Amino acid sequence: MSVRVRIRGLAHGGEGVGQQDDGLTWFVPGTLPGELVDAEPERRKARWARGRLTQVVEAAPDRVTPPCPVADRCGGCDWQHVDPARQAEHKRMIVAGELRALVPDPQAVRLAAVAGPSLGYRRRARMHYENGPGGLRLGFFGGRSREVVDVTACPVLRPELEHALQRVRRLAEHLPAQGEVLGLSDGQRAVLALPGVRPDEPVLEAAHALLDQRLCGIVLRGGRRSVAVGQHELRLDGGDGLAPMRAHPFVFSQANAAVNRAMVRHVALAARSDGLRVLELYAGAGNLTRALARTAKRVWTLDEDREAKGLLRALAEAEGLPINAKHGSAPSLLASLVARDFRYDVVVVDPPRAGLGKESAAHLARVAEQRVVYVSCDPATLARDLRVLVDGGLRITDVTVFDMMPMTAEVEVVVTLVRGPAEGRR
Ligand SMILES: C[S@@+](CC[C@H](N)C(=O)[O-])C[C@H]1O[C@@H](n2cnc3c(N)ncnc32)[C@H](O)[C@@H]1O
Repeated sequence: MSVRVRIRGLAHGGEGVGQQDDGLTWFVPGTLPGELVDAEPERRKARWARGRLTQVVEAAPDRVTPPCPVADRCGGCDWQHVDPARQAEHKRMIVAGELRALVPDPQAVRLAAVAGPSLGYRRRARMHYENGPGGLRLGFFGGRSREVVDVTACPVLRPELEHALQRVRRLAEHLPAQGEVLGLSDGQRAVLALPGVRPDEPVLEAAHALLDQRLCGIVLRGGRRSVAVGQHELRLDGGDGLAPMRAHPFVFSQANAAVNRAMVRHVALAARSDGLRVLELYAGAGNLTRALARTAKRVWTLDEDREAKGLLRALAEAEGLPINAKHGSAPSLLASLVARDFRYDVVVVDPPRAGLGKESAAHLARVAEQRVVYVSCDPATLARDLRVLVDGGLRITDVTVFDMMPMTAEVEVVVTLVRGPAEGRR
């Protein structure tokens, strides 16, 4: 039986949240604060329930018609129904809500001033395919399903990336029954990666024939071999005195060039690492490192991904930057630093969604002598970790929100913490 709920706010995953008279809290994806909606119950616990939106009875002023024709089925974007001009502010309020216990004034959570497009921006994507008698279905998984929604045009992708991904359809006869394709663009040309596809001669030949001015390389990995046709690496986000990052589709890179540039600048300013010893955990291929290393005495980095570390080492060598890049587990390194009572002046962390965890956060609070810059993509785990850092003697001096992925509820947050007496805000 359908329920009628008034939506009061947004949860950290971007779903609307409302309460019924009996006190039951409802989470309804695809809804906005202020809306009155009908929802079909999908899951019910003692204190909360999740429902599927069936009807918007009263719409919020921020509701718009999704620009993408498959928005209701495709799981690639979950905020196509939100006015693009208001998405960043909604994200800021989600972050302020999650951090309320630590940062009581919601206005102290700032929105980065970056003007980027809300469509045609996304330079990195992971699409899935199903290859059957009916042909190749290529696209993203459906919202909370593992079924591939065939996407022939995706309005959030960079045009050259979309062009490159669509060309994979021509490889159908060489592809397995299912798999994924990873794509990365430098703003002009794209490289694709096909994991699980053995680089045998026929598929290599077919892949080679697909290359053109916008699709400059395809990497095939399968049967313990990795072969690239055309170009395999790209250079991202250089300029303004910043060395371009070396990247390829198998390693992490941020999805939005304009917002990433602003975030990298912000992190370097927040770290205030001139002449200091910096530890950077979860460094990836060095997106933040290249900015920190411009003025730091030295940056020691760690990432569990060997390929990312390799790209960062190559960058450091080519640019002559003071970087020591290692691969390994960040929690293990933090534990061993604490055991040896070893500290760094500044520590920068950029973990995946799971965050640091309470134990590692407690270790970090002991390892960071002066300052921590925490880059997070999950406000809930961020709030948990910040509590531990604050209890460990660090003070939050800045929280800035970056809308890295418009049309989705994804958010990047950069928090600056310092040890010692209060200082003036930047
Ligand atoms: C959000 S990405 C950030 C990368 C980089 N800072 C950037 O801006 O491109 C998170 C990184 O953490 C790494 N990672 C995940 N778990 C890890 C762990 N337990 N120890 C070390 N690195 C880890 C991943 O390989 C990935 O490169």
